[in-house]
Amino acid sequence: MKSLQLSMLLLSLVLAALLSFSMGALPHEDFLQCLSLRSNDSSTISSVIYTRNNPSYSTVLESTIRNLRFNSTNTPKPLVIVTPSRTSHFQATIYCSRKHGLQIRTRSGGHDYEGLSYVAKVPFVVVDLVNFRSVDVDVENRVAWVQAGAILGEVYYRIAEKSRTLSFAGGVFHSIGVGGFISGGGFGLLFRKYGTGGDNVIDAQFIDVNGRILDRKSMGEDLFWAIRGGGGGSFGIVLAWKLKLVPVPATVTVFSVSRTLEQNATQLILRWQEIAHQLPDEMNPDVSMFSVNSTQDGRKTIIASFSSLFLGTIDELLPIMQQRFPELGLSRQDCSEMSWIESILYFNQLQNQPLEILLNRTFRNPVGGQYYKIKSDYVKEPISETALNGLFSRLSDEEASSAIIIFMAYGGIMDRIPEDATPFPHRAGNLYKIYYNVNWQEQDNVNSQKYIDWSRRVYNYMTPFVSKSPREAYANYRDLDIGSNNVGITSYTQASVWGRKYFKNNFDRLVQVKTKIDPENFFKHEQSIPPLH
Ligand SMILES: Cc1cc2nc3c(=O)[nH]c(=O)nc-3n(C[C@H](O)[C@H](O)[C@H](O)COP(=O)(O)OP(=O)(O)OC[C@H]3O[C@@H](n4cnc5c(N)ncnc54)[C@H](O)[C@@H]3O)c2cc1C
Ligand SMILES: *[C@@H]1O[C@H](CO)[C@@H](O)[C@H](O)[C@H]1NC(C)=O
Ligand SMILES: *[C@@H]1O[C@H](CO)[C@@H](O)[C@H](O)[C@H]1NC(C)=O
Ligand SMILES: *[C@@H]1O[C@H](CO)[C@@H](O)[C@H](O)[C@H]1NC(C)=O
Ligand SMILES: *[C@@H]1O[C@H](CO)[C@@H](O)[C@H](O)[C@H]1NC(C)=O
Ligand SMILES: *[C@@H]1O[C@H](CO)[C@@H](O)[C@H](O)[C@H]1NC(C)=O
Repeated sequence: MKSLQLSMLLLSLVLAALLSFSMGALPHEDFLQCLSLRSNDSSTISSVIYTRNNPSYSTVLESTIRNLRFNSTNTPKPLVIVTPSRTSHFQATIYCSRKHGLQIRTRSGGHDYEGLSYVAKVPFVVVDLVNFRSVDVDVENRVAWVQAGAILGEVYYRIAEKSRTLSFAGGVFHSIGVGGFISGGGFGLLFRKYGTGGDNVIDAQFIDVNGRILDRKSMGEDLFWAIRGGGGGSFGIVLAWKLKLVPVPATVTVFSVSRTLEQNATQLILRWQEIAHQLPDEMNPDVSMFSVNSTQDGRKTIIASFSSLFLGTIDELLPIMQQRFPELGLSRQDCSEMSWIESILYFNQLQNQPLEILLNRTFRNPVGGQYYKIKSDYVKEPISETALNGLFSRLSDEEASSAIIIFMAYGGIMDRIPEDATPFPHRAGNLYKIYYNVNWQEQDNVNSQKYIDWSRRVYNYMTPFVSKSPREAYANYRDLDIGSNNVGITSYTQASVWGRKYFKNNFDRLVQVKTKIDPENFFKHEQSIPPLH
């Protein structure tokens, strides 16, 4: 009896193994065969395909896993990675993935905070744009064609090579991919002066679910509107953007001033809330808060670090700050003058490094641990001292020892660009955005959970003090806690939960565009825009 049971058990194990083998392997073999048949240059496509038994598979996959939460052995991995070097490779990959029921995840710089560009719970293929990263700068016409796989550092460097008084309204961190950055809106040092990344795009090259290569003219204004902020991974694959370059002065100023609670940080933050959004467009004031052990008595305190770029000289900045924010006591010693491109190094904590470091795609996490959870909020009314104290007390929790919370001032041109100019809706009426970042050093599921729980507790705590109906969130700070679908079952009602937080009333237009360009919902992920049926 026992041995019969045992052999039945063995048999079912063998069967299960066989089944999973054939189920896993067969479509994937067919897919590879399809790729080589479909591609009219099969010799070059084979050199950009990485299956799991390719010795470079892990290196390629891990090359831009920025959040190590998604580098664990139980993170689902793609069956195949394709790193197209020609447009025909994209076309073949889209065609064959559709034919064989595989999902595509597109990856440019890999910074997605929830790893959606390289993690999926269904059989999938990663299309990585690492070989699509040329940057062509035309100083005379103040434009640049940039392939989506370029990182912001490459864009800034190539512009600076030709002109120190032009730039792009991009993000701070040099390793972010322009593909995902602009797809989700994109804000940075210049956004109060010139708007989001998406506001500064004037044409694009795009490939749709049928493999058609479209530009602004052939895609039409609706789709061109949608891809400049409606979130990556919903409509198709952006191959390149044509960026508008914007003027920056030859000399800019940066400053950073830190105060502890004992040095009146609380009063300064309360004051900052009232005035930061009214400071000149030439600034991007923010205040970062984190806890430290006091050097005096070892007890915890909070440091608030007030910092900004200023598009001008120290002599121009000081009187402005003296007049508008005298309480901060900004002095000449707190400020440094430099070129615009050097300010990028400064804010990446790469001061005194050669500019070439901006070309280096190797990631350096600017804050804390390599495992993290991010959330965002928008604030329309100044929060009270009591509310702020509650936030500080949570920042003093053990789980928050390397957490950082940043208030980033709105105002400037954001107040003057209409909410529906692009899908990015967070414009007039916002005092500032809150960025919550909890991070930690070691991977351990029990440990990770306690940090994630901390971020949820803080987010709950902040509910009464931030935007409501919807509680707005920034699409590029992806957070699956605010709602997500189990890939495949995307209902409009379900998607509108997170869709309205990210896009407010622009969500409906995004759904219309999606319904037209990808009615069968091939390009999808946990927070993608659904088509209407
Ligand atoms: C350290 C760090 C700092 C950051 N700083 C800022 C900042 O200063 N300002 C800011 O606005 N944001 C910032 N972010 C957020 C960042 O802008 C977003 O994560 C952005 O989506 C990253 O783009 P990516 O190409 O690097 O990411 P990816 O992970 O490659 O892509 C993000 C999303 O876009 C999709 N996608 C990628 N490429 C394409 C494409 N070519 N066509 C269509 N869809 C595509 C992906 O499938 C995924 O859904 C930061 C993130 C990190 C990790
Ligand atoms: C390869 O395919 C592309 C796109 O389908 C086409 O434009 C190109 O002319 C083809 N090249 C050859 C050599 O057949
Ligand atoms: C990611 O995981 C792999 C496999 O466990 C490991 O070899 C690699 O070092 C990890 N990457 C980083 C940056 O820790
Ligand atoms: C803090 O504020 C109080 C009252 O406004 C003031 O008396 C004190 O000097 C300030 N302390 C510092 C360190 O600025
Ligand atoms: C701060 O103090 C706590 C407890 O007193 C200690 O566990 C922790 O290591 C200290 N942190 C630093 C950065 O010194
Ligand atoms: C990029 O930076 C990393 C980390 O600092 C370094 O190890 C690597 O050599 C650099 N690569 C290039 C091409 O400079």
